[in-house]
Amino acid sequence: MTNQHPPLNPIPAHIVAVNDYVPYAKQRLSLQAWAYFSGGSADETLLGRNNHAFNRFSIWPRALADLSQAHTTTQLLGSRHPFPIFLAPIAYQRMAHSDGELATALAAAAMQTPFIISMQASCSLEHLVEQAPGPKWLQWYWQADKNATKALLAKAQALNIEAIVLTVDAPVNGLRNTEQRAQFMLPLGVEAVNLKGFKQPNNTLGAAGSSPLFGSGFLANAPNWQQVATFISDCPLPVILKGIMHPADAKRAVEIGAKGLIVSNHGGRTLDAAPTSLEVLPLVCKAVEGQIPVLFDGGIRRGSDVFIALALGASAVLVGRPYIYGLAAAGAPGVAHVLHLLRTELEVTMALAGCATLDDVTPDCLYGA
Ligand code: FNR
Ligand code: LAC
Repeated sequence: MTNQHPPLNPIPAHIVAVNDYVPYAKQRLSLQAWAYFSGGSADETLLGRNNHAFNRFSIWPRALADLSQAHTTTQLLGSRHPFPIFLAPIAYQRMAHSDGELATALAAAAMQTPFIISMQASCSLEHLVEQAPGPKWLQWYWQADKNATKALLAKAQALNIEAIVLTVDAPVNGLRNTEQRAQFMLPLGVEAVNLKGFKQPNNTLGAAGSSPLFGSGFLANAPNWQQVATFISDCPLPVILKGIMHPADAKRAVEIGAKGLIVSNHGGRTLDAAPTSLEVLPLVCKAVEGQIPVLFDGGIRRGSDVFIALALGASAVLVGRPYIYGLAAAGAPGVAHVLHLLRTELEVTMALAGCATLDDVTPDCLYGA
């Protein structure tokens, strides 16, 4: 698990940007945990492309705008958010820090921004809700066990979880070469505690069939559009689909009643030859025609990246690895600091681009869009 380096306390003054956390995180993670959190699929070209996609765009500097009333507040799914940067679902956070998801939830609560709890969180939902009062959404992967699903969704509702984020881009994990080379295994004591009691199908890749994936039984329980439509209409909470990339899928998501969608290629961990999520964002927004909010994740490391995603049509963005690096380096204060840095950078970018509110952040702000 974590090694002998203690969490940073205090956070050194020379950490002034998200990427400054990377070496401190790496130092505090085992090789296996580093491979898990930092890795992508195959040879990781998509991971690199996600990060570089923002460099295609420049932002017009604008002079003399009235910024006296400037703010980054936004309204989404009926709730008000002080800034549009949310925490993406990342599994097994106790591998990054002994407090795991609790540290993240405390930071999100302090910053009053939503924490999307992974279905494979290593802390219980009850614990997170009791200890950290901020807004929370629950990420979900389709489960064959209908009764257990119903029970967990009812529990989520009782715990005032605000939305369900159904991840639809990973009926099978991407080929995680970095993880495999590091022979990644969950350390003892870290597990998906909220899934206890679920009947897990035997879906070990290649276990039963004659071929490595098709015919192995692995995909037998992967959901289809019809099942997800039923899930959405039965779900007591609003459902957001995560991992929509194709405009036709975006249209379909609207048709089946999704309350929002997240343009995402899973941080470059699934289809390694996919486009970057930034490239397809405008196409998805066009297809959706403003009927539901479109969120975005993948490769955001700076406030100007947030700005570019918003300018291309996102209502809000999620960050994944950046806050995990803050968590690994410094626990809850590290996660809060990462949010603070990104928020401040977004505000500075908006001010220099002459944008007083998020409504002002449009494609016209981009040079070369
Ligand atoms: C993820 N992601 C993810 N997504 C999801 O829906 N459920 C999950 O449990 C996880 N777990 C997870 C673990 C790790 C280690 C990573 C890196 C990613 C994907 C995540 O929510 C998000 O889409 C990406 O991380 C966004 O890209 P960036 O911000 O990491 O570049
Ligand atoms: C991952 C899964 C948990 O990306 O979504 O590791």
